[in-house]
Amino acid sequence: MRPIEIKEIFDEEKNEKEVCFRGWVYRRRIIGEKIFLVIRDASGIVQVVVKDPELVKKVQPIQIEGSLAVKGIVHKDKRAPGGFEVEAKEIEIFDYGKPFPLRGREELDTIQKYRHLWIRSRWFSAVQKIKHSLVKNLREWYIKDGWYEVFPPILVGNACEETTTLFEVKYFDQKAYLSQSAQLYLEALIFSLGKVFSLTPSFRAEKSRTRRHLHEYWHFEIEAVWYTLEDLMKVVEESLKYAISKTIEERREDFELIKTKNGRNVEELKAAIEKPWKIITYREAIESLKKSGLNVEYGSDFGADEERTLTLQLDTPIFVVEYPRKLKAFYMLDKDENVVKNFDLLAPEGYGEIVGGSEREWRFEVLERKIKEWNLDKLKVKIGDEEIPAYQWYLDLRRFGSVPHSGMGLGIERLLMWVCKLEHIRDTLPFPRLREGWLYP
Ligand code: 4AD
Ligand code: MG
Repeated sequence: MRPIEIKEIFDEEKNEKEVCFRGWVYRRRIIGEKIFLVIRDASGIVQVVVKDPELVKKVQPIQIEGSLAVKGIVHKDKRAPGGFEVEAKEIEIFDYGKPFPLRGREELDTIQKYRHLWIRSRWFSAVQKIKHSLVKNLREWYIKDGWYEVFPPILVGNACEETTTLFEVKYFDQKAYLSQSAQLYLEALIFSLGKVFSLTPSFRAEKSRTRRHLHEYWHFEIEAVWYTLEDLMKVVEESLKYAISKTIEERREDFELIKTKNGRNVEELKAAIEKPWKIITYREAIESLKKSGLNVEYGSDFGADEERTLTLQLDTPIFVVEYPRKLKAFYMLDKDENVVKNFDLLAPEGYGEIVGGSEREWRFEVLERKIKEWNLDKLKVKIGDEEIPAYQWYLDLRRFGSVPHSGMGLGIERLLMWVCKLEHIRDTLPFPRLREGWLYP
């Protein structure tokens, strides 16, 4: 008999029919002579009642997370989760299992020690399914809109963001870094492909320990020729609204599941999709922060506190544009002598930055000057016997047919954190990289 997935059991057609399925023990209870098992697989849970004395004896020693196959008859039963129950006729046990070390409500250290087992939880699986849909739908939007997916390197020789957050690795007899951003490589690709995107791991050796910083995260980045900042913001807003609304449709049950644990109620998310997203300048943001009583001046960078204050009362993301050039990277296009043509997209309810984007400095002389200003001209690489500046290739992009262009980077885990209303970014990933011991497992 062909085994089915658990979710397929919940169908009027299956009532009073025989089914066969496989899974793991999620809960078990002994009531009188009977054993009630709740079995889970990737698709859901179902209650199984074991009445036959021989089977009861066989099943008795199975532990939580023990694995088995069940053949039995489906009965409608209002008391069972989902309204159907399976009465077991045959059970094959693959592994009785050992006493499971996790029971729910563990300390963080215990969860970390057993994270490879903790990720089996239904709550975590729901978050991962939502992540799967978000990424799929984002990709889908860009592909439909004519963008090419490209595959930039992870081992790199140049910094894209602050050099202080680089992870250094040995590359034979050279120094290499783990990529902070694919941006510079995407910029090289737009001359032939026009509009490109990539999804890669990015690495940041940030010293700050916050609930929204990972040392390794998934970075969705786009870059396009001829795009202005306005074009870019439009694409960001449209693609995110599409991805979120389609994810809500596809993952109703998973949102239901996380809602019961203080997670997102999708009704709240709908506001974010239905309303237009406002644009404010950095200067306006500073004024509003001062009014809220924060100790900031024009020129202060925004950390978690500032972004939290700016967005706590909002129900949609906002674009903050025109940051002081000193706060932003060397590659951003100057709007004037003070500010750059950039935006940060801040998620509402205190979540803060989820996307950063800008028009790029595309004029050779200006970029060359900025690379000097940022002290990046001293970095050299060896090719054969020749030593050349590490950013020469990047400057070459402005030597041979340079054009105005723009791009952005979106942190998938930051997006997911807001979409699912999570407390901490660690639970957006099965094996997050954080400080102190978080390389295990
Ligand atoms: O603002 P960032 O540093 O911008 C760049 O890397 C650009 N080169 C991207 C580009 O234009 N192609 O990072 C972009 C996004 C942030 O908005 C944030 O969502 C996420 O990456 N991010 C992190 N997510 C988790 N943990 C961290 N430590 C992150 N640092 C950045
Ligand atoms: Mg940023």
